[in-house]
Amino acid sequence: MTSHIQIFDTTLRDGEQTPGVSFSFDERLTIARQLEDWGVDVIEAGFPASSQGSFDSVQAIARTLKKTTVTGLARCKKSDIDATYEATRDAVSPSIHVFVATSPIHLKYKLKMTEKEVLRTIKEHVSYARSKFDIVQFSPEDATRTPLSFLVQCVQVAVDAGATIINIPDTVGYTYPKEYGFIFKTLKEKIRHSEQITYSAHCHDDLGLAVANSMAAIENGATRIEGTINGIGERAGNTALEEVVLGLHVRQDHYQAKTQIQFEKTKLTSDIISRYAGIRIPRNKAIVGKNAFSHESGIHQDGFLKHPETYEIMTPQLVGVKNTELPLGKLSGKHAFQEKLKKLGYHISETDQIALFKLFKAMADKKKVITDRDIHALIQGTEHEQHAEFQVESLQLQFVSNGVQSAVVVLKDKQNQTYQDSSIGTGSILAIYNAINRIFDIQPELLDYRIDAVTEGSDAQAEVHVRLKLDHIEVVGIGFDHDILYASCKAYVEASSKFIKPQFGQRSGDCS
Ligand code: KIV
Ligand code: ZN
Repeated sequence: MTSHIQIFDTTLRDGEQTPGVSFSFDERLTIARQLEDWGVDVIEAGFPASSQGSFDSVQAIARTLKKTTVTGLARCKKSDIDATYEATRDAVSPSIHVFVATSPIHLKYKLKMTEKEVLRTIKEHVSYARSKFDIVQFSPEDATRTPLSFLVQCVQVAVDAGATIINIPDTVGYTYPKEYGFIFKTLKEKIRHSEQITYSAHCHDDLGLAVANSMAAIENGATRIEGTINGIGERAGNTALEEVVLGLHVRQDHYQAKTQIQFEKTKLTSDIISRYAGIRIPRNKAIVGKNAFSHESGIHQDGFLKHPETYEIMTPQLVGVKNTELPLGKLSGKHAFQEKLKKLGYHISETDQIALFKLFKAMADKKKVITDRDIHALIQGTEHEQHAEFQVESLQLQFVSNGVQSAVVVLKDKQNQTYQDSSIGTGSILAIYNAINRIFDIQPELLDYRIDAVTEGSDAQAEVHVRLKLDHIEVVGIGFDHDILYASCKAYVEASSKFIKPQFGQRSGDCS
């Protein structure tokens, strides 16, 4: 018999815990819509009690999605449960995810609680959650380092208190498939229940076993898999959902399980997350990497040409990798442009489309062929500039061969106030960055600087990513432009402005 495996996406909660990743409000909504299109059953939209920003975006997602269950994370605290209730109550199907740590190391050092106290808190908070929600999921955090007998006790208390979904987190990516599978088998055998219980797997990839462990959970009775797109998340990340769903599909003979995922939307979903997270997909990444469907060796190519299945267990079309994309150009009209936006998964208002079309035309004057990646960069660049606290008004550089370079940077804030400074550096980029540091009066550490050419060719657009660190806080910035130095300047301004407090404009000594 074929079972249905529910897909629970936590890209917007656990995925956003990736160091340096922070989605904007609009990006969160776009991601949530895309996940609904892709076909996930549940979206963990955030942790509503953690910040007003998280609360607002969970609420907006709950109010936007048409069929997907929306859930929010809550600690065993009534205020967390209340916040999640308020944030998700307008969803077509609201639910809550309550968790508390259960492993000895977490109890001793983090929670400073005894086992008895943990059991009491589970009972109290799961029943409180159940008084407000029809669907309550409970997670014993660090379950895989919790003695199995105590884990069974915790789960039994949660089930008795009204949880109908039990999620088993491998919080630190410590378990291996046989061991993880055994936990599910044991729970299924031992837990007494009056309502039907769904068992769910939540794995981290510290030992590179997240997908394998999730598959082992399915083999032992789990019917829900939690994870993120492209496997983003804390440390080494979470289970890559695209790998799980395609694994189940390609090896249906073994797993006898189906999901409701629209496979052909996989690549687009992965691309959107990669762009918003600022994390490039490795070329050799399973399912969505650039090389996943290329055949290099002569023997492979020969076999593939004779019969694709000699070396291909699924087709690129199945996951939405297109062999041929239809590029746009100077002569493409508004209609073709709108169709392209739709195809690429964007939901853009009529007025914004008109403004974008003008920018597209300006780009087409400089660039002969406009590819999908150019369009993505155009939209993302525009979104970044619309939401930026500071925009680059102008950049002036003086280049001296074998000498010190200098830069003058002028920024403009949302109130149209301008700020300017100049500096020197051992290279043009350092000169620009020193000038920006002087404007903001900060000295962040540049952890990472990366230039990606959006497309091939000498007229390619540049996409620059920077990662900065100041006082233990890491931020990222992205800049798009035809000119690498200008794109670098935009990226640094976006990142460093995240360190700046709103009273910046009142500082004395700013020039305007
Ligand atoms: O990894 C983890 O333990 C979690 C829990 C909050 C479920 O993300
Ligand atoms: Zn997690």
